[in-house]
Amino acid sequence: MIRMNLKVLVLLLCAAVLVTLSLWTRCGEVMLASKSRRISGQAADWDTGNKKVANGQDTHGAEAVDHGGSSDLQGYEEIDCHINGEYSIGCRKEGGEIYLPFSFLHKYFEVYGKLATYDGYERFEWSHSYSKVYYPKGKYDSRGVFMYFENYNVEVRDRVKCVSASEGVPVSTQWESQGYYYPTQIAQFGLSHYSKNLTEPEPRRTLLEDAERDLLAHWVVPNGASVSRILDSYTGSHVVQFSIPDSVTSGVSLKLDHVLDFVLSLNFRLAVNSSFTVVLQSREKRDQIFQLHYICSDLTISAQDQHVYHGIGRCGHTQPWRKLTRDLVVDLHKGLVYQNKPKRKLSRSKLKVIGLTFHGSGHLDNLTLSTSEHLSQFYDAAQWLVRHQDSSTGGWPNPVRRRVAPAMADLEPGWYSAMGQGHALSVLARAYHHSGGDNLYLNSALAGLRPFDVASSNGGVLASFLGRIPWYEEYPTQPASFVLNGFIYALLGLYDLSVVAPSASQQATQLFRQGMVSLKQLLLLYDTGSGTTYDLRHFTLGTAPNLARWDYHATHVNQLLLLATIDHDPLLTATAERWIGYMSGKRAAHN
Ligand SMILES: *[C@@H]1O[C@H](CO)[C@@H](O)[C@H](O)[C@H]1NC(C)=O
Ligand SMILES: *[C@@H]1O[C@H](CO)[C@@H](O)[C@H](O)[C@H]1NC(C)=O
Ligand SMILES: *[C@@H]1O[C@H](CO)[C@@H](O)[C@H](O)[C@H]1NC(C)=O
Repeated sequence: MIRMNLKVLVLLLCAAVLVTLSLWTRCGEVMLASKSRRISGQAADWDTGNKKVANGQDTHGAEAVDHGGSSDLQGYEEIDCHINGEYSIGCRKEGGEIYLPFSFLHKYFEVYGKLATYDGYERFEWSHSYSKVYYPKGKYDSRGVFMYFENYNVEVRDRVKCVSASEGVPVSTQWESQGYYYPTQIAQFGLSHYSKNLTEPEPRRTLLEDAERDLLAHWVVPNGASVSRILDSYTGSHVVQFSIPDSVTSGVSLKLDHVLDFVLSLNFRLAVNSSFTVVLQSREKRDQIFQLHYICSDLTISAQDQHVYHGIGRCGHTQPWRKLTRDLVVDLHKGLVYQNKPKRKLSRSKLKVIGLTFHGSGHLDNLTLSTSEHLSQFYDAAQWLVRHQDSSTGGWPNPVRRRVAPAMADLEPGWYSAMGQGHALSVLARAYHHSGGDNLYLNSALAGLRPFDVASSNGGVLASFLGRIPWYEEYPTQPASFVLNGFIYALLGLYDLSVVAPSASQQATQLFRQGMVSLKQLLLLYDTGSGTTYDLRHFTLGTAPNLARWDYHATHVNQLLLLATIDHDPLLTATAERWIGYMSGKRAAHN
């Protein structure tokens, strides 16, 4: 989940806040008071008159001048606030009111605040939580946008090492720094691109070469090398064939001057040891040149100085045609991060593509630069899921050890997640729909249901609350953890499959219905009266509850609001509304 952290901002501001608040209050009073009262250079008397410090001196004497302020603005006294009989902090007393520093309130109550200015008018904005509620625009559509994932940008997250050029999907470093394929994240990558396809403006596409017309592009071909246009027997279309003997050091290249569109796509077949390089230039500093090398290798990513290397996997003339879709700016950014270069955001408007060079030999077609290629990236995720599913269990293994809580046994590499399975179903259901019914996706989705019927103690994702209420575990721990958001994501996946393939997936329908019953039975166990818990470890481990931080709480709310569009049980809406109230400080009534 995205973590929005305002703390840093808050800490910077809080020092200034108390002063600002008192100035603001005082100025307001001064203005109100000015018609009828003496206000200048006088000991103020405009409220309770309770203005004396302990030693009897007037607050507006020398002390106020020492602070360098106008005496009108200094109508307060320093006072100790003794907190729960345990420690003291500096507060201020003004009239009958006591003012506490916001930095203290921030830490004590975990509330957030910032100074904001509108047309020169400054005010302090207090918020109880930092997350956003997404109200569904209509009934949830399993063929449409997935939740609000059009706002997600999975590949730019810090915990994504890069997008693999051999698989076209993100490589995670969340739980293991060398990087691994995390099915949940890959599915989220697919769902975000699917959703962006439905919500973003049409991309601009520039076809650089498709070999159909006279060579569209002006290839620069060194002596001894060749570029030709041939009819490819496998695809039945014209393609470009190129060949550069070992003795020739430069490749065949295109000079470009292309701005704004940084998603490169092409079909290719390359011989062993071939590669291609995209050259990017900074539009501000023209001597700043970056080279993105796509090489025939299993390497994930490597980089040195201005050179970034992504492995596109094994090559060879016997390999089938492949399609590659690369976001060049993401690739460059990951290469800089790889070298611990400053992670400042690379702006698309400050770069341009100035060249493209192929080395070795091979064939290529449909060379294109676009604003985006969301559906290609979506299908990269869907196909990854099809290729990497365990055919005997139907699961997508998580290849890392995971400790959920110290008192729970570690999950050993290879565990399945109901959230990962469910997200995969959401991807595959959409791929099945969008592809016009390709059974490759449907069969994979149907197999993906199997772990839902296998106990979490036995390699599946099914747990049981008190031996009676079935639950699909995001983390199949012993004892069970009952993570709420992962369970609801699993429900959405089951629902998606049951909607796009109703007759084939009666099992999905049945698992969804069973899960909705469980959800309604257990939902209120997560309600603390002022927020929610992330899981039920307080029940299964007998420890303190694991409170959901606000972004997870907001996820709970957003999920309930979405479910409420497909299931009209008032429990869902009523609970969502109460939980929304918690985000602005409302609490359940006490006795
Ligand atoms: C979405 O996909 C369709 C093809 O299904 C394509 O025509 C359209 O340009 C894409 N739009 C975006 C914003 O990616
Ligand atoms: C590929 O490159 C490696 C390392 O440079 C070399 O040993 C190998 O002979 C090359 N293979 C071909 C087919 O050129
Ligand atoms: C290039 O794109 C066209 C149109 O989509 C397609 O028919 C052709 O097969 C593609 N070329 C290759 C080599 O895949």
